[in-house]
Amino acid sequence: MSDMGAQIRGLGDQLRWAAEIRPPHLGTHSEVLFAGMGGSGIAGDYAAAIASANTTRLVVQKGYGPLPTWATRQRPLVIAASYSGNTEETLDLALSSHEKGLPVAVVTTGGKLAEMGRERSWPAVMVPAGLQPRAAVGHMVGATLKLLEGAHAIDDQRFALVEAADLVDATVAEGGRRWEEARAIATRLVGRICIIYAGGPITSPVAQRWKTQVNENAKMPAWWSLLPELDHNEITGWETLPELTSQSLGIVALVDRSDHPRIRARLAHTARLTQDAVPWVAEIASEGTSPLARLMSLTAVGDLVSWMLAEAAGVDPVPVATIERLKELLAEDHS
Ligand code: F6R
Repeated sequence: MSDMGAQIRGLGDQLRWAAEIRPPHLGTHSEVLFAGMGGSGIAGDYAAAIASANTTRLVVQKGYGPLPTWATRQRPLVIAASYSGNTEETLDLALSSHEKGLPVAVVTTGGKLAEMGRERSWPAVMVPAGLQPRAAVGHMVGATLKLLEGAHAIDDQRFALVEAADLVDATVAEGGRRWEEARAIATRLVGRICIIYAGGPITSPVAQRWKTQVNENAKMPAWWSLLPELDHNEITGWETLPELTSQSLGIVALVDRSDHPRIRARLAHTARLTQDAVPWVAEIASEGTSPLARLMSLTAVGDLVSWMLAEAAGVDPVPVATIERLKELLAEDHS
């Protein structure tokens, strides 16, 4: 497996790969249930942001079955996405959906999910293997969008995929403007726990991606919180420990042109009211036109920041030994 820097630099090509996929025929669906965890699950969050700009309701379920009651009644298309194909929560939900007679389609590299799908004739988009699941986000999102196209649930995403690919390439080019922005953010975050604030349909799922990339690449805690909700609780949480929080935490705010104007106002006021207790390290704006390009432009910056934080901490960003160990322990429970 190549190093994480190379995997991040390959993100644009992953999106270009997806642009060439011919969507399978899946009938017509305006309701979709997406099952996936971690680096695969984020593809569902991004697809939901794109689906909501169409007229499709896409609900992401990160966990085991049972199916939510609305799904047994509305009979959505179920997309089960697992890079490895062996994630037990995703397999569980795919199987319970099938048992209830719901149509299932899969995105995977292989594993048990591919096997289950072959036995039951589920339509599949097979993605190339060999990466960390979280580093294959371009493949996973792109393949999910192609399934949604095949279900007439969203518009043709080919141009959006190419736009996103070009933007990602420009972002991850070493020494470029966005790369330097990422470097400046990472430099200010060294030795701090990163908290990501966002509050729009594009920025909210990316805030989660930033958090999980810092966790898995830099092996550091990180959190994300969303506006306007955080203004009704978390904002008071900065009052009691300013000596501690000002030394050990840092906030990054993500913004996009689809943010409600009151969200922008709230960000500015929230920063003013909390800046003595926590440094506001940066506000970073999406680039691009299509929702996918805007999602992926912010994603690429976050991926770079997490990789740079790993480098600064002297840790290898690729392996996720604790996740692997946990999966082994869970597998032993069955033996
Ligand atoms: C590891 C990673 C994890 C996995 C998760 C689910 O790089 O990103 O969050 O994505 O453990 O595994 P898969 O994606 O194989 O279903």
